[in-house]
Amino acid sequence: MSQKSITIPQDFILGAASSAWQTEGWSGKKEGQDSYMDIWYKNDRHVWHEGYGPAVATDLYNRYREEVALMKQAGLTHYRTSINWSRFFTDYEKGVVDEEYARYYDNFIDEMLAAGIEPMICLEHYELPAYLFENYGGWASKKVVELFALYAEKVFERYHHKVSRWFTFNEPIVVQTRVYLDALRWPYEQNTSTWMQWNHHKNLATAKVVKLFREKGYTGSVGAILNPEVTYPRSSAPHDVKAAEIYDLFYNRVFLDPMVHGRYPQALVALLEQHGVQWDYSADELALIRDNTVDELGINLYYPHRVKAPSRAWNPQTPFHPAYYYEPFELPGRRMNKSRGWEIYPRIIYDMAMRIKNDYRNIPWFIAESGMGIENEGQFRNAEGVIQDDYRIGFISEHLYQTLLAREAGANCQGYMLWAFTDNVSPMNAFKNRYGLIEIDLQNNRARRAKKSAGWYRALRETRTLTLNIDDDWK
Ligand code: BG6
Repeated sequence: MSQKSITIPQDFILGAASSAWQTEGWSGKKEGQDSYMDIWYKNDRHVWHEGYGPAVATDLYNRYREEVALMKQAGLTHYRTSINWSRFFTDYEKGVVDEEYARYYDNFIDEMLAAGIEPMICLEHYELPAYLFENYGGWASKKVVELFALYAEKVFERYHHKVSRWFTFNEPIVVQTRVYLDALRWPYEQNTSTWMQWNHHKNLATAKVVKLFREKGYTGSVGAILNPEVTYPRSSAPHDVKAAEIYDLFYNRVFLDPMVHGRYPQALVALLEQHGVQWDYSADELALIRDNTVDELGINLYYPHRVKAPSRAWNPQTPFHPAYYYEPFELPGRRMNKSRGWEIYPRIIYDMAMRIKNDYRNIPWFIAESGMGIENEGQFRNAEGVIQDDYRIGFISEHLYQTLLAREAGANCQGYMLWAFTDNVSPMNAFKNRYGLIEIDLQNNRARRAKKSAGWYRALRETRTLTLNIDDDWK
């Protein structure tokens, strides 16, 4: 172990992220304004930890002023959240804006700007309107792609002069993977063709929104926030390497390639065809994707993914699933965040950075989410009641260090954003694992209380220096 210091460049983002559905709560929500997450919760409440969910969340809708003051105290330069599509309209088909909800965003954004915090806005963080899910099959439908473009148009009209960094989706692969590939979430349907259709339509929707933004001549950028998993093969043997490559095609390159290079990998298209996966796309749609790639990427990185070649026989009755080609691999001796069940391996950031530099034309990008969810954080409270989250400070330090090293090595990396600013509601895990710099006290009307890490984060901003104790094996 030795102590190291590294400079944080003046223009480097030190921010934090969250999303609308995980924070705002249902205050003021009108009949018919449920999102996919809301109806999942309503239909399947028993799978949500201790019954908590989006209904109250952190009650941000009523407390955004207090929250922005805390952001300022914690020294955030940027804050990323989403606008909730399901609440932004009273009529999704005609694009009738819900003025009451939009006023909340007017005020929230103004409050951030007045505090010197730059808002970064995502148009969808799983908040697909339930109406579109129930009536059109959600992202399986081309009509929904059109309605998303209409939504983007209305949001840009209203906020383009206040917000300049836009993102179409957060982790666009997640909902359809959990619902249609793994059948782990309501409504539990295994359908690989529907999975691919959702992927394609989200790529197409991104291209349409990029085109619209450019045609209107707005100042700023449109990107997407992806969660490519840095996937390491168990060994250097060809069968394990192939397992990792195929995993990468199905879960990473399916979004990275069209969004950055403007085309799907040929190997992916061939595998989909080989396994009878049907998805509806046209030459015009592919041309739109080709001509409207994103301006920047946000990358969410939490843990490494390790695979090995499959050793079991595939049941021929099981519909095609990419796991036909791989099995998960657990590295013996791995360092774990036991609350979340995720391996801790900060090097993923450096490795992803070099990949973007070498394979994705060194497009501008930033860490859009990195963080550590810990259960029962109350046990770490000191006599003054402040959670002493030194494990979080350690986690951020190591991951930020890798980000800064990558930047020094030529990665076009713009910053680091913590997940999350406050504790908030996770899909299913709800408030089980706490991620925030700021505690949300569920026993006390969701009172906010800064954890030790909040002051430490602020000092990073003030000193622009990261000092950490680090294993000498880590570069
Ligand atoms: C990301 C999502 O996958 O990870 C967030 O963008 C999510 O919405 C975060 O909350 C942490 O994961 P989890 O499952 O612990 O909430």
